[in-house]
Amino acid sequence: MQPLHSPYKRQSKKLPIPVLGLGLVMLLNFASPTSSCTEQERSSLLKFLSELSQDGGLAVSWQDATDCCKWDGISCSQDRTVTDVSLASRSLQGHISPSLGNLTGLLRLNLSHNLLSGALPQELVSSSSIITIDVSFNRLKGDLNELPSSTPTRPLQVLNISSNRFTGEFPSSTWVAMKNLVALNASNNSFTGHIPTNFCANSPYFAVLELSYNQFSGSIPTGLGSCSMLRVFKAVHNNLNGNLPDELFNATSLECLSFSNNDLEGRFDGTPVVKLSNLVVLDLGGNSFNGTIPDSIGQLSRLQELHLDHNKMYGELPSTLGSCKYLTTIDLKGNNFSGNLEKVNFSTLPNLKTLDIYMNNFSGTIPESIYSCSNLTALRLSENNFHGQLSSGIGNLKYLSFLSLAGNSFTNITKALQILKGSRNLTTLLIGRNFMKEVIPQDENIDGFENLQILTIENCSLSGNIPLWLSKLPNLRLLDLSGNQLAGPIPGWINSLNHLFYLDISSNSLTGESPITLMEMPMVTAMHNETYLDPWFFELPVYSDPSLQYRVLTALPTGLNLSKNNFIGVIPPQIGAIPGELNSLNFLSAFDVSNNDLEGPIPTGPQFSTFPSSSFAGNPKVCSPMLLHRCNSAQASPTSISTNQYVNKAVFAIAFGVFF
Ligand SMILES: *[C@@H]1O[C@H](CO)[C@@H](O)[C@H](O)[C@H]1NC(C)=O
Ligand SMILES: *[C@@H]1O[C@H](CO)[C@@H](O)[C@H](O)[C@H]1NC(C)=O
Ligand SMILES: *[C@@H]1O[C@H](CO)[C@@H](O)[C@H](O)[C@H]1NC(C)=O
Ligand SMILES: *[C@@H]1O[C@H](CO)[C@@H](O)[C@H](O)[C@H]1NC(C)=O
Ligand SMILES: *[C@@H]1O[C@H](CO)[C@@H](O)[C@H](O)[C@H]1NC(C)=O
Ligand SMILES: *[C@@H]1O[C@H](CO)[C@@H](O)[C@H](O)[C@H]1NC(C)=O
Ligand SMILES: *[C@@H]1O[C@H](CO)[C@@H](O)[C@H](O)[C@H]1NC(C)=O
Ligand SMILES: *[C@@H]1O[C@H](CO)[C@@H](O)[C@H](O)[C@H]1NC(C)=O
Ligand SMILES: *[C@@H]1O[C@H](CO)[C@@H](O)[C@H](O)[C@H]1NC(C)=O
Ligand SMILES: *[C@@H]1O[C@H](CO)[C@@H](O)[C@H](O)[C@H]1NC(C)=O
Ligand SMILES: *[C@@H]1O[C@H](CO)[C@@H](O)[C@H](O)[C@H]1NC(C)=O
Repeated sequence: MQPLHSPYKRQSKKLPIPVLGLGLVMLLNFASPTSSCTEQERSSLLKFLSELSQDGGLAVSWQDATDCCKWDGISCSQDRTVTDVSLASRSLQGHISPSLGNLTGLLRLNLSHNLLSGALPQELVSSSSIITIDVSFNRLKGDLNELPSSTPTRPLQVLNISSNRFTGEFPSSTWVAMKNLVALNASNNSFTGHIPTNFCANSPYFAVLELSYNQFSGSIPTGLGSCSMLRVFKAVHNNLNGNLPDELFNATSLECLSFSNNDLEGRFDGTPVVKLSNLVVLDLGGNSFNGTIPDSIGQLSRLQELHLDHNKMYGELPSTLGSCKYLTTIDLKGNNFSGNLEKVNFSTLPNLKTLDIYMNNFSGTIPESIYSCSNLTALRLSENNFHGQLSSGIGNLKYLSFLSLAGNSFTNITKALQILKGSRNLTTLLIGRNFMKEVIPQDENIDGFENLQILTIENCSLSGNIPLWLSKLPNLRLLDLSGNQLAGPIPGWINSLNHLFYLDISSNSLTGESPITLMEMPMVTAMHNETYLDPWFFELPVYSDPSLQYRVLTALPTGLNLSKNNFIGVIPPQIGAIPGELNSLNFLSAFDVSNNDLEGPIPTGPQFSTFPSSSFAGNPKVCSPMLLHRCNSAQASPTSISTNQYVNKAVFAIAFGVFF
């Protein structure tokens, strides 16, 4: 796919550099060339080296007798003045020496992605030469002290102190001296207090302010509205509260405005958001905004990402949303939007890749126009009030990889599966809590689903048997058929699903032999760790519980839930009264065999000892030193006894579940 025209991305790499000044310096330097860096510069650098406890091998190159311009990570101008110290990702440890502040021609300092600790020397921030400091991704700590108010104008343009351990209130008066500041990135620290207001009072070029992942509190300062060049303002994951101030909407150059996960509030349709006509990314998710999406949203003609998820918004989607023709992401999940989606002509959004309206109050049928968004990869309509049958148009979505329709009132599961089986890119299909009381199709002619890895059809009260076509899904990793009325035995082919690591068939009416077959599945014999460890991402976070979300498939625990069925059978010798093999399942994260009619001792071992005795309660014939029913001497220390001794003639029901 041709990447979208993105003013945000394109311009973010360009920072104004005082070209004239640089050129002048170079010209002067050219006039008086020297052969080596100065003694003072060499000693400043050696001082820096000496304060490192781990130099990542720098000392090999940084030899006292040599020209420091030729040292690893050092660049000089033509007159042999050190201009760049570029030591990102060198495994450096120790403190940053203030001696770097003595490099009077230093322009760029990049120490990002090391393990440097201690403070950021003020000599660097207040340097009279440095234009770029990047010390991101280290372990620097302490407060950033204010520069004295007498500090003259400094040349600093870019300051990246992100992903460190800085604390305390953010300096405010310091910025008065930073008239050249373009980008400030302080994200992912532990700064507290208010966001300073006066960044732009003096810095006419100020363009990027990134304060995400801190503990900033209070309201969004009105002063930022005077930042006429501000393109990026991000303060995701802080404790900001109050409304979006009107003044903010005077910063009309803004391309990215991102305040998700704060405590902001107010009516979204009461803000003059349309003034920000250059917006590419608008992210206000995870706050308490209310109101509707105003018709005027259509005037944000460059908008690519709209995130208003997890707020208190309501009303219908305005048809004007279709005017934002560059939209790639619409994320409205977790609100109280309602009405019919038909109003929006999705045909005018050819770039749309993600539409997520999970957990709202939308109704009606799925608009046919959605199927012309041929780039759609993730569509989540779950937990709404949609109804109707799936249309064959969905087959146009060639790239569709994630589809969730769960928790609506869709009908005709046979048709739905017939249509969806042809979606070659589909990896995740979540359609539970629909198709009430229908019959699960058994037909062999459901084939396809080549790439399906996750299939959930839970709580539909479907009748029928576990269908044979499931055996033809070679890549299936997670299957949830719980809460139906499926009858008959667990089919023998189940253990041919080599990649399956989570199976929930609880709360059905399954009968037959105890699950010997399952005990032979690769997931239970623990022979396949590699199959569920390959990194694989959901298109969207999957919620198993409103407070939990899984984005990485491997973050899901391995599990087997067979509870609440009618399994009957003789437990075979190779398994034992309580399957001895389970003892080796140290990747099972939870285990519950309560309220059954199991017997014999509870196995001991590292895994079993982590389960509370309540996991085994309600099985009168089960014994253990921990339970009321103690094992007699013949039953004691099960691990020392071959499982064969527990061959049991009894026929009993087994139901055990693994929960997460
Ligand atoms: C900077 O240089 C001056 C003069 O050469 C010296 O006195 C001072 O100690 C140096 N500062 C650092 C931090 O190395
Ligand atoms: C510092 O170096 C890292 C790694 O090369 C790079 O990603 C980063 O953009 C650099 N910082 C600046 C401000 O150029
Ligand atoms: C630090 O932030 C600056 C400005 O936002 C950016 O140019 C630079 O690439 C960032 N550094 C890293 C390592 O991401
Ligand atoms: C800030 O720095 C982080 C690295 O810590 C980087 O991922 C992020 O893109 C930077 N933000 C901006 C707006 O440049
Ligand atoms: C925050 O910083 C930590 C430590 O440097 C890093 O591991 C983590 O990836 C950073 N988080 C973000 C969101 O950049
Ligand atoms: C926004 O800017 C206009 C001028 O462009 C100015 O008249 C107005 O007072 C500003 N509004 C706020 C709220 O600062
Ligand atoms: C959702 O909006 C409807 C009106 O559209 C209202 O009756 C209902 O109370 C709202 N629900 C919540 C949880 O806010
Ligand atoms: C929707 O948009 C498409 C493409 O612009 C257009 O052809 C179609 O007529 C529109 N449909 C409606 C109902 O307006
Ligand atoms: C859904 O919307 C209807 C009106 O359309 C309203 O009566 C109902 O309360 C809403 N449901 C929720 C959960 O807000
Ligand atoms: C369900 O869809 C099939 C086509 O796949 C159709 O033959 C059948 O009539 C539909 N059932 C109902 C109840 O609409
Ligand atoms: C999606 O399907 C296309 C064509 O069938 C294929 O080339 C591409 O690799 C698939 N992408 C994914 C993520 O499976």
